[in-house]
Amino acid sequence: MHLFIAIIYLLHLSSGHSEKEYSLLLISFDGFRWNYLTETHAEIPTLKKLMESGVYAKDGLKNVFPTNTLPNHWSMVTGLYPESHGVLDNYIKDPNISKPFIPKFIQPDYQNDPRYYDAGGEPIWVTNQFQKSHGRSGSIMWWGSENLVKFMKPTLTMSYEDNILFNEAVDTIVNWFTSEFPINLGLLYFPEPDSTGHKYGPNSVNITKKIEEVDNGLKYLLAKLAEKDLLDDINIIITSDHGMSEITKENFIDLNDIVDPASFEYLGSGNGPYSSLSIFPKEGKLDEVYNQLKSQSESKNYQVFKAEEIPDRFNYKHNKRVPPILALAKPKYSFILGDVTLTIGGNHGYDNEVKDMHPFFIATGPSFKKGFSIDSLNTVDLYPLMCHLLGLHPAPNNGSMKNVSQLLQEGPENTIWTFGTYILVLIVIGSVGGVFTVAACRHHRYLKRRRGPLPATIKYSTPGGAAKAALLSADDDDEFDDANDNTTDDKMLELVTTKW
Ligand SMILES: *[C@@H]1O[C@H](CO)[C@@H](O)[C@H](O)[C@H]1NC(C)=O
Ligand SMILES: *[C@@H]1O[C@H](CO)[C@@H](O)[C@H](O)[C@H]1NC(C)=O
Ligand SMILES: *[C@@H]1O[C@H](CO)[C@@H](O)[C@H](O)[C@H]1NC(C)=O
Ligand SMILES: *[C@@H]1O[C@H](CO)[C@@H](O)[C@H](O)[C@H]1NC(C)=O
Ligand SMILES: [Zn+2]
Repeated sequence: MHLFIAIIYLLHLSSGHSEKEYSLLLISFDGFRWNYLTETHAEIPTLKKLMESGVYAKDGLKNVFPTNTLPNHWSMVTGLYPESHGVLDNYIKDPNISKPFIPKFIQPDYQNDPRYYDAGGEPIWVTNQFQKSHGRSGSIMWWGSENLVKFMKPTLTMSYEDNILFNEAVDTIVNWFTSEFPINLGLLYFPEPDSTGHKYGPNSVNITKKIEEVDNGLKYLLAKLAEKDLLDDINIIITSDHGMSEITKENFIDLNDIVDPASFEYLGSGNGPYSSLSIFPKEGKLDEVYNQLKSQSESKNYQVFKAEEIPDRFNYKHNKRVPPILALAKPKYSFILGDVTLTIGGNHGYDNEVKDMHPFFIATGPSFKKGFSIDSLNTVDLYPLMCHLLGLHPAPNNGSMKNVSQLLQEGPENTIWTFGTYILVLIVIGSVGGVFTVAACRHHRYLKRRRGPLPATIKYSTPGGAAKAALLSADDDDEFDDANDNTTDDKMLELVTTKW
């Protein structure tokens, strides 16, 4: 019986289609600094396990300027720099749109004009749904997914809610991956540890606790995926938008002491603190405001630029939404405009060369190497990487596969499968039929694999089953029956592998 299925399966392979289509899950934990992974007192067994069984970036990601939430999340999913995707910052003003853009965490009931997001960039879910007849995407709270962009939204969305638990988000997205019409792309945004980082600072015990909660959340995710038998079929990217720098009241720069408050407006809500500020001088006041700001910039630890003076390396200024004046504080400093009563321990948004601004990056799954690391990648590389993983042709973008391609397993396209090799496989399998008896109760796994190529699985020196075992060992029991399957899987795969 099983031999019969194996033959059908091999015939299916020889029909030529051998690109296995894995699904993809992108998770962003807001404000998870690159070295929260390596220089922390937190107990993070799941993250460590993921680093060992997948790939990670030792120095994290080089993100985009400004190192704020919205521009970076939009760069992740479009592969474009802010000047090319238009989501310049958390607050934006467009000369052709009457109302400014305000982020949902400031004013959840405010209606933003969808043109702020639909400004040229093509998010990965549009690429997925546009190019694949069965491409279905699900977004949980991902920034921008509430807007029609190129006439599309993700197939399934759950909007931004401040208090959703990570485990609830996991339950929802795993259901979407396993429903009758499953998604092949999931995006999950979570607002921690950013909130804790702002409030208590990146070096607080509260951050340590929050990182442990993130670790626990990921343990829950992996257990859930294992329970649904999905771990061999899904690639997972776990990353963030930016890091966090400690700030103190002593380093506040009160702009009202520097410039006449009646001579300008700024984008933001409340008195701060702000790491950078988009400044709109009143009619005829551009030079006056600029000169006043400039005169104290050295002594007060900030920089000020007219739009055209903004450094090219920020990839920020070539857009009609660029503010007439941009003020940028040095790390650990912040602008305020009068009294600030909030408890403040940390901030971000600074120059993207500042290491504290860089987020972490881990990826795992059948397409990634096991136990491999790279120094760093660019946030804009994630879009071409995700397109590659999903077999999509990327829209024009600023990313590159140059660095990220090192993270990938060698693809099955490098394997030459001839008719002769299939015959050989049949003979080998025929002669070791006993193995199939051992596996007799694992019938469903063969059926499952008919969806994908055996070559990919055989070729990889570490079979998917091993990765799953590594991930699962975080749980010290056998409650997931697949954990017991690994022996059978590995034995079978090894057998086939050594015959080649
Ligand atoms: C956008 O605004 C600019 C400046 O206010 C104006 O010159 C331009 O014509 C406007 N474009 C559109 C398409 O309305
Ligand atoms: C933050 O840490 C302090 C000191 O341990 C503790 O008293 C406080 O309850 C923590 N706050 C939260 C929200 O965890
Ligand atoms: C990418 O790879 C190049 C060459 O290997 C390296 O110099 C660079 O630092 C890497 N990272 C980024 C973010 O480009
Ligand atoms: C980024 O990509 C866009 C789209 O291809 C392109 O128009 C723009 O010039 C690129 N920016 C840089 C700095 O290469
Ligand atoms: Zn933040």
